[in-house]
Formats: sequence, C-alpha cells, structure tokens
Amino acid sequence: MSKRWYQENRRDPWRRQAKSKGYRARSAYKLKQIQEKFEIIRKGDYVLDIGCHPGGWTQVAVEEVGEDGYVIGVDLLSTSPVEGATIIIGDITNPKTIEQINEEIEGYYLNCVISDISPRLTGRYDTDQAISLELSTMVLDAAMPILNPGGSFVTKIFQGVGIEGLIEAAKMRFSSVQRYAPTASRSSSSETYLICRNKLPKVRKEAEGKTAYDHLKEHLKKLDIVVEGVEEKDDDETIIGYRKYVGSGKK
Ligand SMILES: C[S@@+](CC[C@H](N)C(=O)[O-])C[C@H]1O[C@@H](n2cnc3c(N)ncnc32)[C@H](O)[C@@H]1O
Repeated sequence: MSKRWYQENRRDPWRRQAKSKGYRARSAYKLKQIQEKFEIIRKGDYVLDIGCHPGGWTQVAVEEVGEDGYVIGVDLLSTSPVEGATIIIGDITNPKTIEQINEEIEGYYLNCVISDISPRLTGRYDTDQAISLELSTMVLDAAMPILNPGGSFVTKIFQGVGIEGLIEAAKMRFSSVQRYAPTASRSSSSETYLICRNKLPKVRKEAEGKTAYDHLKEHLKKLDIVVEGVEEKDDDETIIGYRKYVGSGKK
C-alpha cells in the first residue's frame, strides 16, 4: 500500500463514516444519497441489487424496505450473508443467474432494481468505460422482465463515448431518466448514476422488439465505433468488446 493511498483513505470521511456505522463499503453512502434525493425504494418493496459485493448497498436496501420488504443481492463474488437479504453468486449476463433470481421471486415482480456493477478495472479508461457501459446495458435488459410497471432502476455509468445510447434506451422504457452524481463518489471519479423511474407498462414504439443492448449497438454504429466482425479490423485499430478504436485506443 503506498503512503499516498494510506493518507487519502485516512482522510476519506465516507470511509470513516461507513466503518463507524457498520456498513461494509463507503459506497453505501452513494445509495443513501440517491435514496434521499429520489426515494427510489419504499417500505415493503422487493429489490434486486446487482453487483452487490461486499454488500454495502444491500445493507442500505434492507434498511429501506423494512420488515415487509425483500432484498436479493447478486454478484460474481461470494458475499458474506446480509441479515434480511438473500444472496446469489452468479454472473448477471448468464441466463442461469436470471433463472435463479426468478426462482427466488416466485413469479412476483420487483419494485426496484439497483446496480453498482463495475467490471474488474484495467486502469485504461477507454476500455473500462466501454466494458462498464456494455455491462450496465445488459443489466437494464436483465431487469426489464422482472421489474413491475411503475418500478425504478438505477445503474452506474462512467462518463464517456456512447452513454447517450444507454440513456436513450432507458428513456424508451421509463417515464423519467436522470443522471446523478452523489457527493459520496470520489471527486476524482467520473462515475455517475442513471436514475430511471416509473417503468412504462410497454416500451415506447421505437423500441418494440429491441433490447437496450441492440439500441446501444445501433447508437455506437452511428458513431462508427461498433465492431460487427473481427475481419473488419485494420492494423491501426484496437478491438475492445464490440468497439473499434483507431490508433492505440488506449490512454
Ligand atoms: C463497485 S462493486 C459493488 C459495491 C457494492 N454496491 C457495495 O456497496 O458493497 C461492483 C461489483 O460488480 C460485480 N460484478 C461485475 N460484473 C458482474 C457480473 N457480470 N455479474 C454480477 N456481478 C458483477 C463485481 O464483482 C463487484 O463486486
């Protein structure tokens, strides 16, 4: 651990506060701030927390839904039990994980899906931003069939190319879509949260028969950064996920 890392963390008021209140992660305060501003979770709600490890958001969600509510957390990594929540280990992009979630909710619909999902960061901003955008879009697609009309959806996005594609896809599915950057996010971070409220009973006409992921790909294609086939790659292009970057594509 570097001296700088140690000093920054000692100074971090959210980390100290999280520790003193028994939250597993400082990120608990990001959800608390989202909740304070938008009241996305209500008493008695059924909530799914995607990318829940180590459990900070799940802890906050359990507090917010109260005794009559229900919280499921899912993550690739194993998460220590959170009292009042059910934890599933799985990849949200894998249909088997969706099956497991469906078994848990037994035909009920969720009132709220929250996601702080983040890929394992490589440190190359363009790469991390592209993968994160792809993941968040997949999370929206996973949430749609199990979320009640009128329900809310929150996901993390990193500022950068293509996020308008996800925002457009969300606007076709929710009556209110806003970006919000909690002050509990590190000041150096370019993360922001997409707050989607009031799921429409039906997707808007332009989105009928299309997933949010289809919409994102179309958007990226318009920007000329989507990759349809690896054979299209030129020598000076880098392929990252479904995107191509001219030049090194790295920062
Ligand atoms: C920033 S952490 C979440 C922190 C959490 N909100 C909290 O307060 O404790 C992001 C999580 O997303 C998870 N993740 C990344 N890709 C995933 C996937 N495909 N399916 C499920 N979880 C995933 C990671 O394992 C990681 O634990």
